[in-house]
Amino acid sequence: MANLPKSPPRQSEMALITGASTGIGRAVAMRLARRGHPTLLVARNRELLAQVAAEAGRFAPSTALAVDLLDDHGVRTILEHLHNCEFPVGILLNNAGIGMYRPMLEVSAREERDMFRIHYQVPSALIRAILPGMIDRRHGHVINMCSMATKVGPWGHGPYAAAKCALVSLTQTLAAEYSSAGIHFSYVNPGIVNTEFFNPSGMAGLRRQVARYGLSADRVAKKVVGLLDRPRLELCVPGHYRVLGWLAAFSPRWAHRLVTAKSRPAAAESSAPSPTAAPGPAPQVSADIVSASGEPW
Ligand SMILES: NC(=O)c1ccc[n+]([C@@H]2O[C@H](COP(=O)([O-])OP(=O)(O)OC[C@H]3O[C@@H](n4cnc5c(N)ncnc54)[C@H](OP(=O)(O)O)[C@@H]3O)[C@@H](O)[C@H]2O)c1
Repeated sequence: MANLPKSPPRQSEMALITGASTGIGRAVAMRLARRGHPTLLVARNRELLAQVAAEAGRFAPSTALAVDLLDDHGVRTILEHLHNCEFPVGILLNNAGIGMYRPMLEVSAREERDMFRIHYQVPSALIRAILPGMIDRRHGHVINMCSMATKVGPWGHGPYAAAKCALVSLTQTLAAEYSSAGIHFSYVNPGIVNTEFFNPSGMAGLRRQVARYGLSADRVAKKVVGLLDRPRLELCVPGHYRVLGWLAAFSPRWAHRLVTAKSRPAAAESSAPSPTAAPGPAPQVSADIVSASGEPW
């Protein structure tokens, strides 16, 4: 890409990281700060965010912005903050997320909506707002945190995996449309990472797998930050998990069997059939969907 301008010095552009209070986001924030990037850190937990900002601030300017991204005003609050920022955003890491491990009929329409909001609509809204500035400067990198669950939908991850698939698809399209403007786009598919992601009681059925196979957040963060030096569209961590994509292309049926066997509660070594399954009769599906969310969809 000899026609692209040289990268501006790192210190002149800011990294906006959603979900920076814990886990992968926090680890990426620290690595970027050590490289001299100013950071804007977004999450709900004010105290944790302030701690990360204080730690990152030892290396480069860092600001904590406590925002609930499921709130209607969440994205607007970030954009208002950016309006008065000293630094333009050169790195956008859409990382905030919540997990789920339940069969589809136990997921309310509101929970499904929240999954799409935090994993697709919020990243999309931030990209819409920030990408034009990157294009003007002909420099920037958008990194979207996705999941290996996008390769083959695992047990209990329905709306989560679907929302992450939407984000993969958006990233691919953006790369097709805007990489010639000097912008890099990446999506990251981590395997199981040992973070606070599995703390909610609904994720209990996966904790033994996490203890057994979980990567450290910093291992993922190192790879994510490495994308800035060697940009690529897809990053799987660990790298050999890419094989699942090849298997899915070669034989969707075998890939599906493998992922189903590995992901359902028995394989997750949980005695409970579903961590949140309520005893009693099967729910009246259509009535539940309307009453759970108050919305007719
Ligand atoms: N852990 C894994 O095995 C794994 C595997 C594949 C993909 N991922 C993806 O990696 C990303 C980071 O997850 P992680 O493992 O690092 O988990 P984590 O430690 O739980 O981090 C999630 C982050 O998102 C923030 N967040 C959640 N809901 C939010 C909301 N409504 N508004 C603002 N911020 C919110 C959390 O902060 P607050 O609670 O302070 O708001 C936290 O900073 C997620 O997108 C996840 O889907 C994780």
